[in-house]
Amino acid sequence: MSTPVLRYGADYNPDQWLDRPDILAQDIELMKKANVNVVSLGIFAWATLEPAEGQYNLDWMAEIIDNLYAAGVSVDLATPSGARPAWMARKYPEVLRVGADRRRILFGERHNHCYTSPVYREKVKLMNQQLASRFGRHPGVVMWHISNEYGGECHCELCQQAFRDWLKEKYGTIEALNKAWNAKFWSHDYPDFDYIESPAPHGEHSVHGLKLDWKRFVSHQTIDFMKWERDCIREIVPEAKVCTNMMYFYDGVDYFDMAREIDLATWDAYPTWHKPTETIEQTAMDTGFMHDLIYSVKGQPFWLMENCPGPTNWQPISKGKKPGVNIMAGMQTVAHGGDGVLFFQWRQAQGSSEKFHAAMVSHDCREDNRIYMECAELGSMLKELSGSIAGVGREKQAAIVYDWSNKWALEDAQGPRNKGLGYKHELLRHYTGLKQNGIDVQMINEDSDISGYKLIVAPMLYMLREDFAAKLRAFVENGGTLVVTYWSGVVNETDLCYLGDTPHDLTDVLGVRRLEIDAMYDSETRRCVSVCDELPETASGSMLCEVAALEGAKALMVYDEDYFAGAPAVTVNAFGEGKAYYVATHFEEEFYKPLYELICDGVVSSCWPGHLAEGVVACSRGDYVFLINTKDAVVWFENAELAPYATAVYKKNGDKLDLLYNQMAFNWSPVK
Ligand code: GAL
Repeated sequence: MSTPVLRYGADYNPDQWLDRPDILAQDIELMKKANVNVVSLGIFAWATLEPAEGQYNLDWMAEIIDNLYAAGVSVDLATPSGARPAWMARKYPEVLRVGADRRRILFGERHNHCYTSPVYREKVKLMNQQLASRFGRHPGVVMWHISNEYGGECHCELCQQAFRDWLKEKYGTIEALNKAWNAKFWSHDYPDFDYIESPAPHGEHSVHGLKLDWKRFVSHQTIDFMKWERDCIREIVPEAKVCTNMMYFYDGVDYFDMAREIDLATWDAYPTWHKPTETIEQTAMDTGFMHDLIYSVKGQPFWLMENCPGPTNWQPISKGKKPGVNIMAGMQTVAHGGDGVLFFQWRQAQGSSEKFHAAMVSHDCREDNRIYMECAELGSMLKELSGSIAGVGREKQAAIVYDWSNKWALEDAQGPRNKGLGYKHELLRHYTGLKQNGIDVQMINEDSDISGYKLIVAPMLYMLREDFAAKLRAFVENGGTLVVTYWSGVVNETDLCYLGDTPHDLTDVLGVRRLEIDAMYDSETRRCVSVCDELPETASGSMLCEVAALEGAKALMVYDEDYFAGAPAVTVNAFGEGKAYYVATHFEEEFYKPLYELICDGVVSSCWPGHLAEGVVACSRGDYVFLINTKDAVVWFENAELAPYATAVYKKNGDKLDLLYNQMAFNWSPVK
């Protein structure tokens, strides 16, 4: 086993610069100066690697890999399936995707191949095996970057048939499928599997079970394609380590399933820092949620495979990062369990849609460019921390349930708020409340092993599988603390409403029973008042107000207006050795800090023992505690000063925390 290191680098696309040896030489020099130790190579290089069918041209890549290796830069070698050469699309149109409207796309763009096409799979196999045979055992190749940002769906005939086969395998008989989908509705019973078509705007889009299973199938088929790519490499290099880059709150692939098939989870982060509607702390929370999710899908350190060192080219307002924020974002990644911080991309492209997307090296090619200087500074910080932090895992404390099937069913439910249920906001409210109390958070799904957690939070767990309800019940019985919100335990795994009392199988655990739910217009709120000492005197519910009856639980907050005044808005119930809280509505952000102060007391402890100043985020990895200042101002801690946007790292020493590293501010001004 090699010693873990913090990886630092970028996507590297030298195929765009092969006619500029001066640029390629400068790349190596600047990489060394910035402490770059890894690059993701050749992600979109298929046309250069195979300019005509069967004519492979890998020599240029061999030279690049050798030069990088000599400079101490390892390679995360890409399979180039994210975009294909034009000759392939012309000769084999089946590789091109068909949309839900049943129209096949033209050649162009990227991330748009059919995951089922045997021709595409064969072409990918031949290419991946060329790469694996030539470079798979090169000492510089430390990781395989399988494709790029897998996503989207194809509705071609090959995919339709694969979908039907997948359904047959799942349900066995058409009668079982019709029952599971409640297909009697509008007389939509399927006489046979052959009748089934994927959802379409001009066809079926009201059978929720069909839509849910289509989402599951697309996720399955995408992962199946990824496994195909992986196995093409492993046939030649069995020990090859593979990863793939996941995306921000991406809906189309269940990343818990995907993560089981790879060695390393990675994701691409493009937060809109500095947007006027959000504080930096809020943007950091949103990004932190994703870091924690990607850590959790494998339960091990991850890489941030892409982020942008300055402005992107594609955000509505492609704003740059203020001096210091790029470093802060890199350190935040490490604080949440990241072992790699990489950018898109190494060098700014000269043309096409990404020419104004920032990169570590800008069009001016200068090393006194502000972005390069900040990147170089981050590189030296990561180098300094690498020996202590790399490979260090995180303890299980609190978990938030984030389950793809639940999300798919919840957001397709048609009611009670078709304008948006606010699921992501709800998740972030709980996450932020926990983080503001210094609590480390991981995410679980309904298949996860929940042992080891002390607190489980289940926001809007609309689709609650009976086996998971049983796990939650046992968790509370054995001393765990559970938080369940409104709109939970409503349907089963095929999206059929439970009959009888809800939240299904949890009414006794929670000590409440749902009566009804009222949807609010955007501007509407409902006042709630406290009936305990620990929570704010008043707070307001919005989005959805669930009305429940107390059946053993104690109310902590109650509604104070509308026809449901007096009904519980927050409750707690003792069950077995543990406790279960119920939150009936979506409160304002400020409410969740005191709420979780109450819930966490004696259950989970803050990773920072003292008072956490506003805007400071605390995270821990093993014995290390990170404090990140998201403010553009100095913050004081007992004996240390934290510079604007800076991070401090402490190491546990018995009951004490010793300051290991305190970052200086990154100061930069255009005025000399
Ligand atoms: C990512 C993609 C990269 C690059 C980047 C630009 O989604 O993986 O190839 O296009 O966006 O921000």
